[in-house]
Amino acid sequence: MSKQNEKKYDLIIWGASGFTGRLVAEYLIGKYGISDDLKWAVAARNQSKLETVMAEIGAEKVPMVIADSHDVASLNAMASQTKVICTTIGPYAKYGSELVAACIENGTDYCDLTGEVQWMRKMIDKHHEAAKAKGIRIVHTCGFDSIPSDMGVYFLQ
Ligand SMILES: NC(=O)c1ccc[n+]([C@@H]2O[C@H](COP(=O)([O-])OP(=O)(O)OC[C@H]3O[C@@H](n4cnc5c(N)ncnc54)[C@H](OP(=O)(O)O)[C@@H]3O)[C@@H](O)[C@H]2O)c1
Repeated sequence: MSKQNEKKYDLIIWGASGFTGRLVAEYLIGKYGISDDLKWAVAARNQSKLETVMAEIGAEKVPMVIADSHDVASLNAMASQTKVICTTIGPYAKYGSELVAACIENGTDYCDLTGEVQWMRKMIDKHHEAAKAKGIRIVHTCGFDSIPSDMGVYFLQ
């Protein structure tokens, strides 16, 4: 069995106590509820705030994980439990670099919604080869405002 198949969750939303993360969690609880179709969890740095926000959207039974960007061990513990992490915690240049490293370390696919191009360049320079060698997908800039920019480049080309 591959390492991915041994993981407890398919997806963790890190930042679910914030504005954007809450919207993602609200979408997932509406679409999937709690089922084996998608084994998902929410994560944040502050358990009580996370519990309050999840109760507000009817997602209080979704499993919760606590991880702080300043605590690398907590990031590794989170990344080791899931196949994919979607992070809504930014600014990414301030809070995001260690999570990218933890995902590569733990064989975890990753997506974010950063628009911070200098930081993306830095992450690509630092991690691309290792991610490629391990077959891990690090996908920056998913959705929201990022889509018009992507379409602009596409049309320009
Ligand atoms: N590309 C786009 O179109 C687009 C659109 C929307 C947002 N964004 C970006 O997405 C990010 C989030 O935006 P938002 O409006 O959702 O912000 P937000 O409501 O302020 O949420 C930020 C989240 O980060 C968490 N956080 C802060 N410091 C942390 C740390 N040290 N460890 C772990 N978690 C930490 C906060 O936790 P607490 O709840 O405990 O404070 C909160 O859950 C921003 O960088 C924003 O620029 C991009």
